[in-house]
Amino acid sequence: VHRPPAPPVAHGQECDGRRSHDVVVVGGGVIGLAVAWKAASRGLKVGVADPHPGAGASWVAAGMLAPVTEVHYGEEPLLALNVASARLWPEFVAELERSSGRRVGYMPCGTLVAALEPGDRAWAEQFFAFAAELGLEVQWMSGRQVRQAEPNISPRVCAGMFASGDHQVDNRLLVAALIEAAGKAGCCFHRERADWLDTAGGKVESVRLSSGALLASTSVVVASGAWSADIGGLPEACIPPVRPVKGQILRLRCPDGRQLLARCVRGVVNGTTVYLVPRSGGSVVVGSTVEEKGFDSSVTTGAVYEMLRDAHRVVPGIAELELSEAVAGLRPGSPDNAPMLGPCPGVEGLLVATGHYRNGVLLTPMTAQALAAALCGEAMPSDALPFSPARFQVPSWSR
Ligand code: GLY
Repeated sequence: VHRPPAPPVAHGQECDGRRSHDVVVVGGGVIGLAVAWKAASRGLKVGVADPHPGAGASWVAAGMLAPVTEVHYGEEPLLALNVASARLWPEFVAELERSSGRRVGYMPCGTLVAALEPGDRAWAEQFFAFAAELGLEVQWMSGRQVRQAEPNISPRVCAGMFASGDHQVDNRLLVAALIEAAGKAGCCFHRERADWLDTAGGKVESVRLSSGALLASTSVVVASGAWSADIGGLPEACIPPVRPVKGQILRLRCPDGRQLLARCVRGVVNGTTVYLVPRSGGSVVVGSTVEEKGFDSSVTTGAVYEMLRDAHRVVPGIAELELSEAVAGLRPGSPDNAPMLGPCPGVEGLLVATGHYRNGVLLTPMTAQALAAALCGEAMPSDALPFSPARFQVPSWSR
């Protein structure tokens, strides 16, 4: 098993002793970076506190933008948010590529679902009916149609469907572009952990960094993913109820750069799903586990074996590829699998943008738009309003 290459060195500008901001964003993953970029673009003085921007779950992710094929039964409220964010992606990419001068590998390619066994066909039929009932864009396909669309899918495929609105972006290029764009918009980087939030009189005052440096700020955005509850000094009602949900993921590389797949493929193999996300240059991202193991990011032989076994059942040609990387990331899970977006009631200047679970990359544009609006004293987009962190606050009378 190969270790992952080092995450990008963040070239964003250093804060060079700057100790006062309009906004300090705690956490430099795609969510924190996009919020910082959008807020700085609107004229706010923004600092990001993170020892290694872009090195966490954002670096490990597959970059799927999949409101349809990632929908789960009972998560219909989240679906509306995911669909709304998916619609923002084309414009978000255009603006980010223009601002950063970098490409992000956005591929509006759709996603093919391939059912391998008769039992998997039944699962796919049920899922298709569920998605169609929700008004989502899905098209049923026979096994033959699936293979016509993707000839490298196994001849065993018995049925499938196409989700024409589920796309992908290269998450690692996205991280680099966001760092660049945020820096160009005037945002600076404190490459340290934020240890403590100081509040006084119901208002945010400052953030203390691991070196002891104190950053005065009018607003603080907690966007540190699975670690969002770790910053000391958060008033109890504002501690985001996040937990780490481990995802192991593989990267396979075709030495001659040949492309095995033209679009994202989600296989259903004996009731288990596996996804294969093709990247330009012939690599394929294969994922992923969903494990409740606390802050454990080890890679296990069992998970690597099972993912390769299932991916190989769907696309036998992957056996020819190099296993270039096996890595685990920690998704920030929340009690309802949906994010917490916006001001924390009761503490002026404190906002959260966390708990994005399986949809962090997809929800980046919507989160950035919502948080930038809130930081500028405007109403958040209506799609984001049901996701206020207030929904998890325990009323004081019941404590
Ligand atoms: N969105 C893909 C994953 O969380 O595995």
